[in-house]
Amino acid sequence: MKDIKIQDYITEVPDFPKQGISFKDITPILNNPPVFHQVVDEMARFTKSTGANIIVAPEARGFIFAAPVAYATNIALVLIRKAGKLPRATIKKEYDLEYGKATLEMHKGDIKPGDKVVIIDDVLATGGTLEAIIEMVEAQGAKVVGLSVLADLTFLHDDKIIANRQYQSLVNY
Ligand code: PRP
Repeated sequence: MKDIKIQDYITEVPDFPKQGISFKDITPILNNPPVFHQVVDEMARFTKSTGANIIVAPEARGFIFAAPVAYATNIALVLIRKAGKLPRATIKKEYDLEYGKATLEMHKGDIKPGDKVVIIDDVLATGGTLEAIIEMVEAQGAKVVGLSVLADLTFLHDDKIIANRQYQSLVNY
């Protein structure tokens, strides 16, 4: 278990989905149970250490890691979805992606003032997704006490997004 190098289970796919983008395919992690266990265990350890009472994660790949962490830590999970997927009243936020633009939504009332939130996702690229989620969480009077990502594409964002926060990335590019 201890010899697993998580980066070996992230495949870089050049020019996907667009020319010039090096896509990080995390599916080999899911195909290898000991590796998936290690990733979830490390994220769960971090999440617990922050004292968070809510885990927030964006679709789709964020869900893959956040749900088992929520199960392992017994901490509530709140879902962030792309526009039009959530059935009840939502809070919306438009954001920039590494490749495109989109709107994120979360159900109103899922997060309350004073909640302590850890955000979990697979990849931190430009930081647009995390930034949008942080704004949505803070707009509801909650505090983001930690950020946990599987892979950090450090060359695509400045450090502002992670500065002064508890932060975990398992693989750095
Ligand atoms: C990817 C990834 C992160 C985000 C990172 O999600 O899963 O959520 O982009 O990019 P950023 O730091 O530049 O915002 P994507 O929106 O492609 O959705 P998916 O997980 O549904 O494939």
